[in-house]
Amino acid sequence: MTLRLDDSSITVAIVGCGGFIGSHLLDAVLERTRWRVFGVDLDFYRLQHRLNHERCEFLCADLADPAVVERIAQFPLVVNLAAICTPSRYMGEACEVIRSNYDHPAALAEACARSGAWLVHFSTSEIYGRTAPDSGELIEDETPVVFGPVAASRWSYATAKLLAERFIAGLPGLKWTVVRPFNFVGPYMDFMPGVDGEGIPRVLANFSTALLRGEPLKLVNGGKAKRCFTSVHDAVDFLFALFNAAGQDAGPGTASTAGVFSQAFNVGNPDNELTVAELAAKMRQIYAEIRGVDVATLPEPQNVPGEVYYGAGYDDSMRRMPSVEKAERLLGFRASTPIDVCLRESLAWFVNHYSV
Ligand SMILES: NC(=O)c1ccc[n+]([C@@H]2O[C@H](COP(=O)([O-])OP(=O)(O)OC[C@H]3O[C@@H](n4cnc5c(N)ncnc54)[C@H](O)[C@@H]3O)[C@@H](O)[C@H]2O)c1
Repeated sequence: MTLRLDDSSITVAIVGCGGFIGSHLLDAVLERTRWRVFGVDLDFYRLQHRLNHERCEFLCADLADPAVVERIAQFPLVVNLAAICTPSRYMGEACEVIRSNYDHPAALAEACARSGAWLVHFSTSEIYGRTAPDSGELIEDETPVVFGPVAASRWSYATAKLLAERFIAGLPGLKWTVVRPFNFVGPYMDFMPGVDGEGIPRVLANFSTALLRGEPLKLVNGGKAKRCFTSVHDAVDFLFALFNAAGQDAGPGTASTAGVFSQAFNVGNPDNELTVAELAAKMRQIYAEIRGVDVATLPEPQNVPGEVYYGAGYDDSMRRMPSVEKAERLLGFRASTPIDVCLRESLAWFVNHYSV
């Protein structure tokens, strides 16, 4: 496939286009390429500013529908972001989570194998399983994985994502690349409970909501788990590094395919590692600066047991440190946005968006 960014005959299908990463990818495709976009999602409330764009077609539909899957696979490049991916749903809705993260991607992968489309599938850093506090770097093609017990249904998401990866890698004739995100943060992430969503959002939106409402930040099991927070803009830059490399790649079976196809990539920023308790402290400080108040006037964080906060079946991995050597070596990509810049941008957007 020749995949030039200035080729106006190319259409990219973005599935889950209305979500956090999808909305940033859509903007970047429209700004950096001449491609058209076929966007699919269950809803598009984040994309009001793009709905009438001349290079976009949006389909409000469910990936569970086989006719929708066939239609998506007709495009030469398919980026699949669609998933149930909010931790609070992994306990109470395990079967739906598994359908969303295994059944639907598997059907899409089979359709892409038949049509010849290149599938860029979003997996997760959670496929590395229940890591210990002193776990080292997680290396794409080397690190073994250990999961929590079946009774801890928190692992429904990670096991479904892992099986989807195995299915994609094993599917004859499929041209694929897998992306494993490590805690992307940025504007448009998740929702504010009771305003534009229900339940418990991921940690960034969760803490932002508490700060805006003057409530204590809840530190699950003391907030000891460590994560590497990564700017969504770096994530989009990674995808463009991939697209650019594919533009120079002649396709599967040729000498250069090692760089792009049939590869899983960690996308994370190892320089941005924090415990969740440290994240809370930084977010309180930045929020106080944005509001022009003394941080001591904000409520102190509170500890809460995981099973109380998320419900029975809660479990966690304690450290997720990505190896980023493979993306550097094969694509020349390394995430570079410092943690304070990520958090200030995200929090300022949240305050501005939800204060109105
Ligand atoms: N954001 C992160 O840090 C992160 C971390 C790990 C993995 N991921 C993965 O990246 C992908 C995108 O994540 P995100 O943060 O943008 O999530 P998101 O929830 O903001 O976006 C997912 C989108 O998919 C849509 N969707 C869900 N089920 C669908 C269906 N059946 N049919 C059509 N659309 C459907 C949702 O409506 C939503 O807009 C997901 O696969 C997620 O598992 C993200």
